Amino acid sequence: MQATTAQREFVTTMSDLESPMRPQPQAGEPARPVQKAETRMVALIVPDTTNPFFTEMAQGLDEVVHEAGFGLLICNSAGDAAREQAYIDLMTRSGTQALAIVPTGSSVPALRLLHERAIAVVLIDRDIPGASADSIFCDNESGAFQAVNHLLALGHRRIACISGPPLLHPSDSRIAGYLAALRSAAIPADPALLVTGDFQPSSGSAAARTLLELSVPPTAIFSCNDLMAIGVLMTARTMGLLLPQDLSVVGFDDILMASLAEPGLTTIEQPKLEYGRLAGKMLLERLQNPALPFRRAMLPTRLCMRSSTAPLA
Ligand code: RIB
Repeated sequence: MQATTAQREFVTTMSDLESPMRPQPQAGEPARPVQKAETRMVALIVPDTTNPFFTEMAQGLDEVVHEAGFGLLICNSAGDAAREQAYIDLMTRSGTQALAIVPTGSSVPALRLLHERAIAVVLIDRDIPGASADSIFCDNESGAFQAVNHLLALGHRRIACISGPPLLHPSDSRIAGYLAALRSAAIPADPALLVTGDFQPSSGSAAARTLLELSVPPTAIFSCNDLMAIGVLMTARTMGLLLPQDLSVVGFDDILMASLAEPGLTTIEQPKLEYGRLAGKMLLERLQNPALPFRRAMLPTRLCMRSSTAPLA
């Protein structure tokens, strides 16, 4: 893609910004019009600014772009496509140079508009089928497989899964990893043990109550994110269960609260800071060279053992 006039001006303006202080007007000389400073701004759109997973990602992105002299604007789409589109429209009008986005869904048209306006874009965490953009994901299916395999190794056979919102790429991949682990142990999947959540603690609590009230309840629960897993711990205790003796729980993300939970949450660590740092690096490289081929990075996950899992009693 050839650099557009705007980009040539941008690059010129940027080098101009790095030039020594402009000469001050001499006495009697008409003051020069103050040139509008180029807004060196990067934006990040995430679906839930209350979830520490995204704020830790933002910290990594801010480290990199701040070092390069850019500001970071954090926007909350609340998982709403119309709200996400409104932010994207705002960015195309406000001179934002680069955008990192955890997309709510099928935002391909918006990506085309951003490319047309020469705004560098990187997708993080959630894919958009058919999108032409730099992107960074983690190996969700492998992470979920590790989580359930850990429970199988502790002797659990009735293992439940609380998923994230339906049709969300990371959650669907984690369900696939859960089912693959059961298959590897020749355990038939019981539909009653797969409950839908929405990544919020309250849905984890509700799902836990549903599962633990079954006539034959699970002895272990894999939750597709930590916030729901923390809801599970809270409800299990309210129902009088001893943790982890009566119920083992594994989460996904390894947010700070996972280590502060009681008991400490065994979980799958996602490289949250690295997501942000790599996104910042990709965006800055794209600004320097718009014609770069699109890159797709897959980051590893890691089982983080704490005290919320125990051998089957
Ligand atoms: O906790 C929020 C979830 O949404 C994380 O697991 C992350 O992968 C995102 O998809």
